Amino acid sequence: MKRRDFLKSGFAAVLLAGLDHSSQGGFGVAPVHAASPGISFRTPLPVPPLLEPFSREESHTTYGLIAQTGQHQFFPDVQTATLGYNGSFLGPTIRVKNGEHVKFNVYNMLDQVTTVHWHGLHVPAKWDGGPRQEINPGSFWNPEFTIRQEAATLWYHPHAMGLTGEHVYRGLAGLLLIEDDGAAHLGLPTDYGVDDLPIIIQDRRFFSDGRLAYVQSMHDVMHGVIGNYLIINGTLEPFVEVPRGVVRLRLLNGSNSSIYRLHLSGEKQMQVVATDGGFIHRPVALTELILSAGERAEIVVDFSGDQSGQQTELFVDQYGGRRYEAMQFRVGKAAGRITTLPGILRAQKAIAETEATHSRIFAMETFSRQGRGRGMMGGNRLTINGRKMNLNRIDEKVQLGTTEIWEVVNTSASMMQLPHSMHIHDIQFYILDRNGHPPAPYESGRKDTVLVMPGERVRLIMHFNDYTGIYMYHCHMLEHEDDGMMGQFEVVAT
Ligand code: C2O
Ligand code: CU
Ligand code: CU
Repeated sequence: MKRRDFLKSGFAAVLLAGLDHSSQGGFGVAPVHAASPGISFRTPLPVPPLLEPFSREESHTTYGLIAQTGQHQFFPDVQTATLGYNGSFLGPTIRVKNGEHVKFNVYNMLDQVTTVHWHGLHVPAKWDGGPRQEINPGSFWNPEFTIRQEAATLWYHPHAMGLTGEHVYRGLAGLLLIEDDGAAHLGLPTDYGVDDLPIIIQDRRFFSDGRLAYVQSMHDVMHGVIGNYLIINGTLEPFVEVPRGVVRLRLLNGSNSSIYRLHLSGEKQMQVVATDGGFIHRPVALTELILSAGERAEIVVDFSGDQSGQQTELFVDQYGGRRYEAMQFRVGKAAGRITTLPGILRAQKAIAETEATHSRIFAMETFSRQGRGRGMMGGNRLTINGRKMNLNRIDEKVQLGTTEIWEVVNTSASMMQLPHSMHIHDIQFYILDRNGHPPAPYESGRKDTVLVMPGERVRLIMHFNDYTGIYMYHCHMLEHEDDGMMGQFEVVAT
């Protein structure tokens, strides 16, 4: 079916694409790929611009961000009402350095309250941009903080109570890159938009008139709003010309609730070099990579042996959905600057289990026990430890300067089993184990979001330092978060 016809066939037909939870561990298709005739790859990949500072002084750099409404063209001749930062859809890439002091002028031009949360960034609680830091329509917010962490690919997005999913869906999200001196000398590609490419992967549904179709039913809340159009940097099936060399892709699963399995045509290898919180110890070669909503990975792909003109497709398999030919890489004539990969990236400051002085259990419950028999509409669906988010309740108190183990368990008191994830503000954690087994090598670095499949038990270890105050933890399937699958922890000084 042509995409135009698909669009015309409207919402009911559109929904059908997202319902196969049966085979292949929930991915609609087997982890192999076939050449697909007739795919388009006609639009060049848009690269979000680097955010130019408003001013750069010796003591700090100031940036401006405006949350605004816009019109975006996903389909030829169809305008879709969207939201964006400093533009119509998505936002500019913010690039800062470890140690830099930054200030932001954030202006809310929407007619709803919103926030800007720096996902993965270690900042004082009052500048975290979570649901406690609302920006009213027509108002400014002026956070300022010092970057105190290693090079990493982070992102920013709204986080207002009950509105996160909708705001992100309509287009509010952007990348936040931290650089450091070490990163510049690793021998990895660093030419933004040339051999260092931001790849924001999302999916969307549309009504037949081109409007975005956000939550329509209880099914959407439970399974998340799973789109049937895959967009990369806001564009359907783009292509990008890459140099004949090593190319670095900064991947963000910026979808609301989808889990993606990524792989390249011809089983081409991807070398994972970084996860959520930065570089891992050494590159890990994979042919497929799973990212749940909110997770990032940096991979490098070696095109140096390819002929100019050679094409490689990025395939995205969507959990509960289908396979997409997401985008295409075309090898250009120019030789790449980088043709070999570093053997060692960065030593890991692994935290020993024995350093932990406290451990906690977080039950991510599709239905909690108290909810049994209360049905889909009950207040006990999508809880953490049986509770729903309450801004007036602190769920956990953590001592500043201590190390903790958080054990995250995906359970359900009903037949309905769903994947969940755990995202923790303020810190980066290490995965200790998953159902008792050490994490896969590519998952052994610093992370802030972790996928927890039904029946899984994942132990995380983390250190709380620098800042006291109230932060969030939540499922990063945004429809779950907005439904209340979130809690607050307060870091308190001793
Ligand atoms: Cu990406 Cu609490 O969020
Ligand atoms: Cu976050
Ligand atoms: Cu969830």
